[in-house]
Amino acid sequence: MQEPKVSQRDQFVSKIGFILAAAGSAVGLGNIWRFPYLAGKNGGGAFVLFYLSCVIVLGFGLMLAEFIIGRHTQLSSVDAFKKLDKRFTFVGGMGVLAAFIIMGYYPVVGGWSVAYIFKTLFGELSTDAAVMGGAFESLIEGMFSPIFWTAIYMIANIVIVVKGISTGIERASKVMLPTLFGLLIILVIRSLTLPNAAEGLRYLFVPDFSKLTGDVMMAALGQAFFSLSLGMGCMITYASYLSKKENLVENATIVPILDTLVALLAGVVIIPATVSFGFDLDSGPGLVFVTVPAIFATMGPIIGRIFGFIFFFMIAIAALTSSLSLLEVVVSYLIDNRGWDRKKAVTITSIILFIICIASSLSMGIWKDKKLMDMNIFDLLDWFANNVLLPLGGIFITLFVGWFWDKDKVKAEVTNDGSIKFTLFNVWIFLCRFIIPIIILLVLLRGIGLI
Ligand code: PHE
Repeated sequence: MQEPKVSQRDQFVSKIGFILAAAGSAVGLGNIWRFPYLAGKNGGGAFVLFYLSCVIVLGFGLMLAEFIIGRHTQLSSVDAFKKLDKRFTFVGGMGVLAAFIIMGYYPVVGGWSVAYIFKTLFGELSTDAAVMGGAFESLIEGMFSPIFWTAIYMIANIVIVVKGISTGIERASKVMLPTLFGLLIILVIRSLTLPNAAEGLRYLFVPDFSKLTGDVMMAALGQAFFSLSLGMGCMITYASYLSKKENLVENATIVPILDTLVALLAGVVIIPATVSFGFDLDSGPGLVFVTVPAIFATMGPIIGRIFGFIFFFMIAIAALTSSLSLLEVVVSYLIDNRGWDRKKAVTITSIILFIICIASSLSMGIWKDKKLMDMNIFDLLDWFANNVLLPLGGIFITLFVGWFWDKDKVKAEVTNDGSIKFTLFNVWIFLCRFIIPIIILLVLLRGIGLI
């Protein structure tokens, strides 16, 4: 291993740049694609309320833990743990593996959204959800087309990550995140002015606690994890590019708030529109790619296309700012730990990831029947990363901060050597020691089907 060159390390040059990049990592397919369909499927208000509680307890606590590890060491996750406590190096390794695995299928969905930008603009839009469902299936089950769109999506990632932090990821996030918010607001206004919008809002926000089953609670908890990009060293890696002046407590509050806001607004776009047009809320993962285009089609050919374009462009941006962070986790490991230069790290990583993505994409079509534990390649990667690696990572990260890192050093890092007040320090340590690991353990056991 080569000594990492800490002094030459690239950095986020502005406070807002870091917040937007970290929020960009968090805001992704998890918010716009997954959250609305989970809320629709799991009974609306009660799910949303429980999700919010999870974000408050888990989101802030674990994010702060990741931030201080990265900022303190100025190293990406593997080397950060190696420096702090060698016994925990494997946690960083698990994170790199998780990033690798998620990047083995996430760009495929990113590719679908890029394809849908063009499909809604130039393709056929039908108000019939069955017709749109057929169109979606023929895209994802195809041989070359989804791989082509995945390649386009991967190239966008490569072009940005190869430029590094300040001129690559930070600059891109500063443009993309505000754009995403702007587009989302346009769609929210459109959705709220539809007839019967109030009924959809009631579904989303008025809890019916009889629907809060164990399954629904677990789904909400898992979603909080994935959506906030926690448990796999992503926030450790981003914070490693952060200067010692930043207020981490503040950042760990703002980023989960932004992430949650986008998830809720995406729910406000999709749920009232679905109710208003009488579509099925329970349509699962197809909600965004099937129901939403059908809804847009009902607005007439031109308006429908415009809104469709805005919607899928927004999803592609959201996905891109997340996959940048995933790619950066692997790339920064190769730079810090293996001494590679950035260009080589990005190129080689991307080629390998693209090959895995091809396999994931084909597992929707010609390799549909190749299954392990009843899952195709795509689902298996998703399951293993999100239900096993991220929860495990989250447990070890909080346990490390709560029990194994010197408490005075933790306090010094969180408070910037005493210059920032953090009155909830002891509450947060308690969360790291007990509450968060226990909650995550429950998700994990549930995820692997043990409870
Ligand atoms: N948070 C991203 C999303 O909501 C996904 C992600 C998970 C990104 C883990 C980075 C790390 O889509």
